[in-house]
Amino acid sequence: MFERYRRLRQTPALRRLVAEARLEASDLILPLFVTEVDDRPTPIASMPGVMRWPLGSVAGVAREAEEAGVGAVILFGIPAKKDARGTEADAEEGVIQRAVRELRREGFGGVVITDVCLCEYTDHGHCGLLGDNGEILNDVSLRRLAETAVSHARAGVDIVAPSAMLDGMVRAIRGALDGAGFDQTPILSYSAKYASSYYGPFRDAADGAPRFGDRRSHQMDPANGREAMLEHGADVAEGADILMVKPGLAYLDVVRRTRTLYPHHPLAAYNVSGEYSMVKAASANGWIDERSVVLETLLAFRRAGADVVITYHALDAARWLREKEAS
Ligand code: PBG
Ligand code: ZN
Repeated sequence: MFERYRRLRQTPALRRLVAEARLEASDLILPLFVTEVDDRPTPIASMPGVMRWPLGSVAGVAREAEEAGVGAVILFGIPAKKDARGTEADAEEGVIQRAVRELRREGFGGVVITDVCLCEYTDHGHCGLLGDNGEILNDVSLRRLAETAVSHARAGVDIVAPSAMLDGMVRAIRGALDGAGFDQTPILSYSAKYASSYYGPFRDAADGAPRFGDRRSHQMDPANGREAMLEHGADVAEGADILMVKPGLAYLDVVRRTRTLYPHHPLAAYNVSGEYSMVKAASANGWIDERSVVLETLLAFRRAGADVVITYHALDAARWLREKEAS
């Protein structure tokens, strides 16, 4: 006698009936780069298929994503001007503030999320303000991040997503939002964000690489899994509404642990730029089948315990899922 596991694998209908995890377009969040530097949609060499969108064309692509069923977009800004304090980050006429208003004006009905950090706005490329020795000053940077989040809320964003990994970041932002009358604006915290080499292509795309040094004084050490649970716990206590693990694939163990230890909070995972570019490179060479690899990968995030996945594949994947359903 032996077990007959193959009984339930005989037909697509049976397999679908007993599938433990499912992937839907509405689980996906599409990152969009909004640029003041380029006057037309500009491809990013290290991220084939991803563009920097000028303000006039961002609503169009967001609408396409909405029509395909993608759950949300998350906006990253590429400002025309940078300085030491990241002045443009919270400017009323800043690139993100204008982009959010543009999406609203153009009738985008999906969820709009904004990344809240200073690294795209500072001339030194660091996520906060710097002290005399080039160190990131935690508490004064919190004030700038809070001002930035409030300015996004004022522009009409649905969710703010602080990504700077500074201590007390969520509390500072929650307090500032509440104080400005935005107590109903949720925070998606990049609660467990690692100092990862997988962010390389993003830093080309967003022009946000540090001019010197690295991000290891604030982002997490890839060696640490338990510590991620402390980071989540702090952010929950400070008022985070949604948690995140980033990057995704090399950290699916952290996704699983988070799901187990924080079972009551929505959890996002970020399928980051380097993961995207590796799949695109291999499929461009004909070494893997892009569509099936992408859908398998995104499903793996769901199986590991993520509710939503931030991914540059979101629009393609949403369309592929539609086609699958129709067939
Ligand atoms: C900004 C930010 C980064 C990413 C998202 N927000 C870059 C970084 O921390 O260096 C990376 C996203 C990706 O690689 O796709 N703090
Ligand atoms: Zn940053």
